[in-house]
Amino acid sequence: MRTLLRLKRVMPEVRWTMWQNRSCSNSSIQRLESNSSIHKHLISKITATGPISVAEYMREALTNPVAGYYVKNDMLGAGGDFITSPEISQIFGELLGVWCVSEWMAAGKSNTFQLVELGPGRGSLASDILRVFSQLKTVLGETDISVHLVEVSPKLSQFQAECLTGDNTQPNDGDQPVYRSGTTRTGLPISWYRRIEDIPRGFSVFLAHEFFDAIPIHKFQRTEKGWREVMVDIDPESPGKLRFVVSHSPTLASSILIQKDENRQHVEVCPEGGVIVQKLANRIAEDGGAALIVDYGHDGTKTDTFRGFKGHQLHNVLEAPGMADLTADVDISYLRKMTGNEVTCLGPITQRSFLKNMGIDSRLQVLLRNCHDPSTRAQLIHSYDMLINPEKMGHRFQFFSLLNRGRLAQYRGMQKNTAPLPVAGFAELDMQ
Ligand SMILES: C[S@@+](CC[C@H](N)C(=O)[O-])C[C@H]1O[C@@H](n2cnc3c(N)ncnc32)[C@H](O)[C@@H]1O
Repeated sequence: MRTLLRLKRVMPEVRWTMWQNRSCSNSSIQRLESNSSIHKHLISKITATGPISVAEYMREALTNPVAGYYVKNDMLGAGGDFITSPEISQIFGELLGVWCVSEWMAAGKSNTFQLVELGPGRGSLASDILRVFSQLKTVLGETDISVHLVEVSPKLSQFQAECLTGDNTQPNDGDQPVYRSGTTRTGLPISWYRRIEDIPRGFSVFLAHEFFDAIPIHKFQRTEKGWREVMVDIDPESPGKLRFVVSHSPTLASSILIQKDENRQHVEVCPEGGVIVQKLANRIAEDGGAALIVDYGHDGTKTDTFRGFKGHQLHNVLEAPGMADLTADVDISYLRKMTGNEVTCLGPITQRSFLKNMGIDSRLQVLLRNCHDPSTRAQLIHSYDMLINPEKMGHRFQFFSLLNRGRLAQYRGMQKNTAPLPVAGFAELDMQ
């Protein structure tokens, strides 16, 4: 099927063509009827207690337990609002699978190996990675491998279960930390959680692909009186409408979240993302392992990146909350700062460089050599171009990694630049 799609967040003024949906899409999946209950709820709340922060607005719109965007919708793919790299090509997940195994090997081949994905969407990335794990069975040997998914959306967790297990899962009662569990199609135990802290301790490789961009941000504006928080209020000219206002006095967030040396005029800060990355760093430091964070991000340079997507079009963020995707570029310099020196941070490096370092060109050649159908060949080449072309996703998306500090201890003792960094995907970087 040839479908016109607008790539989420990637040069939204250009239309991209996607030729085929990925394996884990389900043609029976329908977008749920949208409703405006969050809009009504927010109007009542602001009327009663005054303007709310952008973070509160974003949290309600995306993850309100009853009507939040991620809770209710299947937003990925042709019938949805955006498309992501794992949905575009199997090669993406395969190369990340090789990265996971390579880090497990480099870290000393722990007897247990937890693959943890934050915000797995439809499950396509984990599915491609698990296929690689099966193909590398002889390398992984008798290792006790398990899969752990952190997903806030019951709806998406059902799609993930279908994709990864063929629906071989049991939902667990009420408020248990593991709300669903089962066995993957490849025979591995798999569990679903709402929070990272509920995942068992142990050597883990964490993956977060387009996860941090969905975590609520606070917005701040520099004014003559100092930093002030941008809030969401009701438009007095049009009482059913929402608008941004700048707080008259400092808020708790504006007092504690702005760095002393900040020189931008407008800043977005994601403290919840900071807490999550601290938890990852802490676990990697104590239990071993690594994390790979992939998102469209910047190194503390961008200002106003908060935006909405609906039906592959840019969408006013204050309209129809709960019915459109809301997102903000990830400030990787902030995440790095929040790791607090507990781990070694690598990157950011562009998606193009990472995938090239991981051998995407050779993988494409192998697939093309084994494929004689002209339309599938064309699709493979088209997807490859989407992933690595600097004007498409190649430079927009950044890879950032956290490693246990012991992982590069030997390298740290060597003269700088005498050898490429011995971490797959990041070879050309200097260690930070
Ligand atoms: C933009 S989608 C990305 C999906 C997938 N990683 C991909 O790239 O195709 C964001 C994912 O994060 C999940 N998510 C959003 N906020 C979350 C939160 N606070 N806790 C756990 N999962 C969350 C969403 O339900 C969804 O699965």
